[in-house]
Amino acid sequence: MIFPEIDTPAVLVDLDIAEANIDRFQGHCVDHGLAVRPHIKTHKLPILAQRQLQAGAIGITCQKVSEAEAMIAEGGIDDVLITFNIFGDTKLARLRDLSEKVQLSVVADNTEIVDGLSQFFADAPQPLGVLVECDTGASRCGVTTPKHARDLARYISAKPGLSFLGLMTYPPVGQEAAVQEWLTQAKTEIEKIGLTVSVVSNGGSPGMWQAQDVPIATEYRIGTYIYNDRSLQARGVCTWADCALSVLATVISVPAMDRAVIDAGSKVLTSDLLGLEGHGHVIGRPDILVEGLSEEHGVLKAHKINLKVGERIRIIPNHACVVTNMVDQVETIRGDRARGAVTVSARGKVQ
Ligand SMILES: Cc1ncc(COP(=O)(O)O)c(C=O)c1O
Repeated sequence: MIFPEIDTPAVLVDLDIAEANIDRFQGHCVDHGLAVRPHIKTHKLPILAQRQLQAGAIGITCQKVSEAEAMIAEGGIDDVLITFNIFGDTKLARLRDLSEKVQLSVVADNTEIVDGLSQFFADAPQPLGVLVECDTGASRCGVTTPKHARDLARYISAKPGLSFLGLMTYPPVGQEAAVQEWLTQAKTEIEKIGLTVSVVSNGGSPGMWQAQDVPIATEYRIGTYIYNDRSLQARGVCTWADCALSVLATVISVPAMDRAVIDAGSKVLTSDLLGLEGHGHVIGRPDILVEGLSEEHGVLKAHKINLKVGERIRIIPNHACVVTNMVDQVETIRGDRARGAVTVSARGKVQ
């Protein structure tokens, strides 16, 4: 039986693979003169954020104030960018507290968000650095034209308690030339009004090996690369051997020659398909389709399933980041040796 000391279902993290992934991309960015600012949403573990910083990352990215609070609680992290429009007095008060503990910066894409930030930072000892979030084609948040970016930069720079730091984008995949063009225009417009664009923050694992094709960027925010997953393997960004996170599951029923059922359902694997067929890749059994999930059951199909009750399998999920959010602890491993459970400190932090 594989990993007999670990009860199932469990989320395994191979630290050897994760560390190699960290070092490989850090090296790529050093070669291209780019700073790395990893997004912790994938691992949610202070120990891995610390490992990313030791490898040379300049700071971390979080999506939520509560994630940042959880990440800094264990120490060793002193520079955080929150890439989310922060709205409402409760969160703004916590943001202000956080700014007293770490070097903090945030993003904004509209004046209402900027007004809230200024209200809470007007009397702060240090101004809060604000990046203008730019929609360079991914159609989520972000000002939609370079001229809007200039106008919001001007607005931020005039607000008490804030300093305009630069531009941030979560880019569309495979559109590097268009992203470069968009950000260059925005930077030129902003410089024309006498402001300095110190930081241009780009990111995303699907485009990680093309990060240098947006040379205006000063830093790259990257999350999934640390574990990789089935969606990145399908895009050709990584191989199965680069996938550090897997779900360990036990076969609990073999009702038919072509079907088996495991003890991992959507409560562990999640129902994220990301455009793929099936809910994960069974290591060593590419013929098996993880066909369906209910909360606690996973249904496997194959021409000949050839599994026995009690047998264990490992599944690389479609989307690693959402899987780590499902469990209180992950089990660390190095190859075939278990190395102990670690608490996922920043899981479930949605505020
Ligand atoms: C704002 C932002 N930056 C960076 C990332 C990292 O993306 P990835 O996990 O593809 O590396 C994300 C992912 O959702 C994001 O939302």
